[in-house]
Amino acid sequence: MKFFIDTANLAQIREANDLGILDGVTTNPSLMAKEGIKGYDAVMQHYLDICSAVDGDISAEVIATDFAGMVREGEELASLSDKIVVKIPMIKEGIKAITYFSRKGIKTNCTLVFSAGQALLAAKAGATYVSPFIGRIDDASWDGVGLIEQIVGIYGNYEANTQILAASIRNPLHIVKCAEVGADVVTCPLDAILGLLQHPLTDIGLAKFLADAQKMN
Ligand code: G3P
Repeated sequence: MKFFIDTANLAQIREANDLGILDGVTTNPSLMAKEGIKGYDAVMQHYLDICSAVDGDISAEVIATDFAGMVREGEELASLSDKIVVKIPMIKEGIKAITYFSRKGIKTNCTLVFSAGQALLAAKAGATYVSPFIGRIDDASWDGVGLIEQIVGIYGNYEANTQILAASIRNPLHIVKCAEVGADVVTCPLDAILGLLQHPLTDIGLAKFLADAQKMN
């Protein structure tokens, strides 16, 4: 399973990348705004900075919601780097844009996916990645990981090429559960990735080893 980080914060991206386990980055307009990135030039430069920091796929989201606008923005984003994946919302015009980019060999990430039917359509259109938002599904008292499992089953029936990118990850258990059901990718906040490190028995065991190591001096 690939690990992406879900942030536009360069310090966090570099911290995750320094672990040596990072396969890519996802961003969205909310995450970009949170970093105070404003204006066309600053946005494009920020994507370039992320591309320089990480060797992997970098999702950059279009703002337009009409086909022509998505194509224009997506082509501009894709021209920045081969690493750029054009992130497109799961709407009717978005499916048309994903089909367009797929035929041109430009990578896409179909975002804001909340159902198996939407995921089926994204794969049919040739999306490189599909992003079900599992945390937001759980927030609505449905089963986010259950949706991932359902999509894994459906894609497996047809050997779909679209990778299932579990998004809106909230905690380390989400990551483990996604691995259990066969997600291709998880995109996570840094805290959720670092949370995988934690176990009290590791801390207790290390303290004992270090204490005993003093006896070896
Ligand atoms: O990748 C999508 C993700 O950023 C959404 O996460 O926590 O806003 O539901 P969240």
